[in-house]
Amino acid sequence: MYVCLCNGITESDVREAGRTGIVMPCQLKSKFGLKRSGCCGRCAKNIDTFVEIAVQGTSVPCPTMSDR
Ligand code: FES
Repeated sequence: MYVCLCNGITESDVREAGRTGIVMPCQLKSKFGLKRSGCCGRCAKNIDTFVEIAVQGTSVPCPTMSDR
């Protein structure tokens, strides 16, 4: 699912950024160019959604728990 239509950013893009340690709002805005002129800014207003998705990327499922 797209989280930014202007830049074609998907949830998996944001999750991948989370895996590399990019989870802070300022980091995410910089990584995905959400501050650039010409963007509508809608997604930057919902940066909390980006943070939630990025944090999901940092969590690795416990193998013993998934076997249950
Ligand atoms: S939807 Fe992300 S800048 Fe427009």
